[in-house]
Amino acid sequence: MSCDEIVLQSPEYIRRLSPYVPGKPIEELAREHGLAEGDIVKLASNENPRGPSPKVREAIASAVAGVTRYPDGNGFALKTALAARYRVSIDQIVLGNGSNDVLELATQAFLRPGDHAVYAQHAFAVYPLATQARGATGIVVPARGLGHDLNAMLAAITPRTRIVFVANPNNPTGTWVAPAALREFIAGVPSEVLIVLDEAYNEYLERGQQADTAAWIAEHPNLLVSRTFSKAYGLAGLRVGFGLADASVADMLNRVRQPFNVNSIAQAAAIAALADTGYVEESARLNRSGLEQLMISLDALGVAFVPSHGNFLLVHVGDASTVYEKLLRQGVIVRPVANYGLPEHVRVTVGLAAENQRFLDALRAALGR
Ligand SMILES: Cc1ncc(COP(=O)(O)O)c(C=O)c1O
Repeated sequence: MSCDEIVLQSPEYIRRLSPYVPGKPIEELAREHGLAEGDIVKLASNENPRGPSPKVREAIASAVAGVTRYPDGNGFALKTALAARYRVSIDQIVLGNGSNDVLELATQAFLRPGDHAVYAQHAFAVYPLATQARGATGIVVPARGLGHDLNAMLAAITPRTRIVFVANPNNPTGTWVAPAALREFIAGVPSEVLIVLDEAYNEYLERGQQADTAAWIAEHPNLLVSRTFSKAYGLAGLRVGFGLADASVADMLNRVRQPFNVNSIAQAAAIAALADTGYVEESARLNRSGLEQLMISLDALGVAFVPSHGNFLLVHVGDASTVYEKLLRQGVIVRPVANYGLPEHVRVTVGLAAENQRFLDALRAALGR
């Protein structure tokens, strides 16, 4: 059998997939443009510019001694900490290799070829990818003001719908739906449709904007809340996230989960990160001041942006692919978002004040202002 024949054995819905395009790694830009890695500013993947807290770094160092052994495949210690934090039972928790894994597990457990999954236009790119990888059909609901149109999403649900995805806040738009509207939406979703509420950026919301969504699960057993340690906790490279759901839903996801999907260092780091609440709050504060810095300077430059509830900003630059290249040449990596149907925007992650300034200076030069 030739390579071509083997490829043709792959289902048509797999051959149609376009792989996820991550932010450009610093090392790659350094290689391509002959730049020193230390001179490059990466604001492309919504990472915490402070990295993990000192306590978490210590936990990571201590956990190294245990890498000979397989991790706890049930993540007992981490689940115990999460259960206490979110007031759920251990059997309501699914650990993921990043929250991306939780999203994948949800589609694996609930979508058959031919089923429908509903999500919003400009919503996080993994929803269409995970849906298509199961041979299911994505129903894309047009955005309203770049954000989720929850009423239209409800109207798009049919007897073929098995999952509806909501990103709150959404990446890459930074848009957010207030808890009251979200609750009303959840109440309107038929009980046999799984609602995947992706709260990867929850920690960046103001206190008053954060809802206790885990508490909604008791009333809505079709709700899966997805969270991550990649963003405000500063652990993107370790890959750890989790889902909270009714025990019957968590059970289905755990059936298709790889036995050791979260490594031992990641589990130890996540436990320490969860306990260090002050660090996360400080990261959120720093993010707000970085957003402020970016918004004031972009206003001064006459550049439009979408007000954001995350740790990133969607910036209207016109010919985004040219601007992206011009920023790269100055050692600044942002994220092009044409694949999200936004060819005139780039997404910039909020960095440290000096990194934000590097972006602003490079953008001014790229736009010739
Ligand atoms: C909305 C949203 N959900 C989920 C993820 C997945 O992140 P991770 O797999 O690192 O938890 C991201 C990452 O960018 C995201 O933006």
